Amino acid sequence: MKEKIDSLISAAKADVSACATVADIAAVKVRYLGKSGELTALLRGMKDVPADKKPEIGRYVNEARDVITALTGEKQKELEAAQTEARMLAESVDVTYSAHEGSLGSLHPCTLVKNEIVDIFTSLGFKVARGPEIELDFFNFQALNIPKDHPARDMQDTFYIGNDILLRTHTSPVQARTMMNEKPPIAIVVPGKVYRPDDDATHSPMFQQIEGLVVDKHITLCDLKGTLTLFARELFDKNTKTRFRPSYFPFTEPSVEVDVTCSQCHGKGCRLCHGTGWIEVLGAGVVNPKVLENCGIDPSEYSGYAFGMGIERITMIKYGIPDMRILFENDARFLKSFR
Ligand code: PHE
Repeated sequence: MKEKIDSLISAAKADVSACATVADIAAVKVRYLGKSGELTALLRGMKDVPADKKPEIGRYVNEARDVITALTGEKQKELEAAQTEARMLAESVDVTYSAHEGSLGSLHPCTLVKNEIVDIFTSLGFKVARGPEIELDFFNFQALNIPKDHPARDMQDTFYIGNDILLRTHTSPVQARTMMNEKPPIAIVVPGKVYRPDDDATHSPMFQQIEGLVVDKHITLCDLKGTLTLFARELFDKNTKTRFRPSYFPFTEPSVEVDVTCSQCHGKGCRLCHGTGWIEVLGAGVVNPKVLENCGIDPSEYSGYAFGMGIERITMIKYGIPDMRILFENDARFLKSFR
């Protein structure tokens, strides 16, 4: 009987040490200590033990049960702890792990420049006006002293929608719309999209302009020069110089083309300014009296000046961007550099 018990204990020891999971140890427990387990079977055999041996063998069996209970209990605790550990590891969240930085959007450089230009003029008392992008031939051309057969129409190739309806080629039609609706004094800037069938490194079929118009008594070319020179110093830098060259627009007389000293080389000459030290930034002039008349304003009482500039062009000059197309590609890496 003792031998049986001894071999049962060593079998139990071997089984316990072979357990790898909580389920394994539970099965071993049942096998040895369960109601129909091996130890229980041994206990049942006690009835065949002679009476004088019973106390000794009984103690021996009890000890064996204690040993097996302790063995399996310990192993169970160990395996349960390992199981919990493994689960915690699998479900753990590393709070020290650095989070993904969300990518913040940024304003397009043209929008930044447009806002800056609008701010400069509104700080001088100009109001912001807007007009339709699908425009009547009348406002885009005729009211601005460009009749149907006028050769100046060649200066602005045009997307026509119908005989008299087109995509506006400049923001100047808003001059006419404003003068027809408001009495002087007028001082407006007009940001907006315009369209021309051009497409290369410095032209895009859609681009943005800002128009300016001032109409009041005694407005002269001097007011235009003073305002635009101040504007250029605000937009580029304090030492920017301006140069006014004679030009031609049917809606202004006299007309000028305005150059600024190159924002990259400050007049020394570089690639951006093609070695001249100057860069053309806008067209302007004194409002042609015919335009005032067309729009119901008496040219003997009032005069005005107007100017128009391309926002993409100014953006390219300001940031030294050589190719306009990059402004339309929406490459996030390029846009981010303006944040
Ligand atoms: N509308 C002209 C253009 O697009 C620019 C301009 C505006 C010139 C106002 C003079 C006065 O080229």
